[in-house]
Amino acid sequence: MAQAPERGVPAGYIAPLAAVDSARFGIAIVTADGREFAGGDGDMTFSIQSISKVFALTLALGVAGDQLWTRVGVEPSGTAFNSIVQLEHEQGIPRNPFINAGAIVVTDVLLGRHEPREAIGEMLRFVRMLAGDKDIFVDETVARAEEETGFRNLALANYMRAFGNLRRPVEQVLGVYFHHCALAMSCRQLARAGRYLMTGGRHPETGHSIVSARRARRINALMLTCGHYDGSGEFAFRVGLPGKSGVGGGILTIVPGVASIAVWSPGLNERGNSQLGTFALERLVHRTGWSIFDPRPG
Ligand code: DON
Repeated sequence: MAQAPERGVPAGYIAPLAAVDSARFGIAIVTADGREFAGGDGDMTFSIQSISKVFALTLALGVAGDQLWTRVGVEPSGTAFNSIVQLEHEQGIPRNPFINAGAIVVTDVLLGRHEPREAIGEMLRFVRMLAGDKDIFVDETVARAEEETGFRNLALANYMRAFGNLRRPVEQVLGVYFHHCALAMSCRQLARAGRYLMTGGRHPETGHSIVSARRARRINALMLTCGHYDGSGEFAFRVGLPGKSGVGGGILTIVPGVASIAVWSPGLNERGNSQLGTFALERLVHRTGWSIFDPRPG
């Protein structure tokens, strides 16, 4: 497929992702007062990949509480999403829940006493509830493709198991992890699913507490500092918002108290984050003054 260089290059290591048309671009914005805007391919589904790590973390905090932080750190890694280098120095405790190693530990927590199928079902139900949309699904083709090529993730998981930081069998944990990553959602569904992080942890439609305000604040903090791997500094510099990227080309971004935004464009920059998506968010923030570093009225 011909590439326009300014759009970046779609991920090549998961076959179905490499086949997505790199000319796609979508955006959706849901505001705190309930308005919804979508543009371009904002209603087309794509593989959310690592963005699922935000929802997995939210669920795992509900299971393990703050004990989770004894098994996963809260520091930016400064390394690639699938890096193994820090794990040896840090005795199998991943730097943060958004690198692959961290999300694999989070998935181990979610498995708890469940069977893998139940853990996948729980995540799917959670995301559907957040978005208020029963049509969200797991793309089995993507999950299987990753299972066939997930050698680095297998290495990370085995390494952490050797340090005693995985409780369940590696194959089970990775099976669930790959299915989370294979969630297929549109920008609109994703922006809706992210609303609880804009509202201090409350579901805007039901008023139910998804997480406490303190947890919502902490998840946002981790998205700001760790949500784009070794590109987190650049994302904070250019956009200045909590954000989580995925190699499918999606980014979920939160403007606390104001909006939940999802963008999607499959072409990635050299750090595996959506090139056009980041550019679009940079332009949006410039126009709206929505960066968390912009002065707030009052
Ligand atoms: O584990 C993997 O490699 C993928 N399922 C997820 C990686 C990912 O999305 C990294 N984000 N930019």
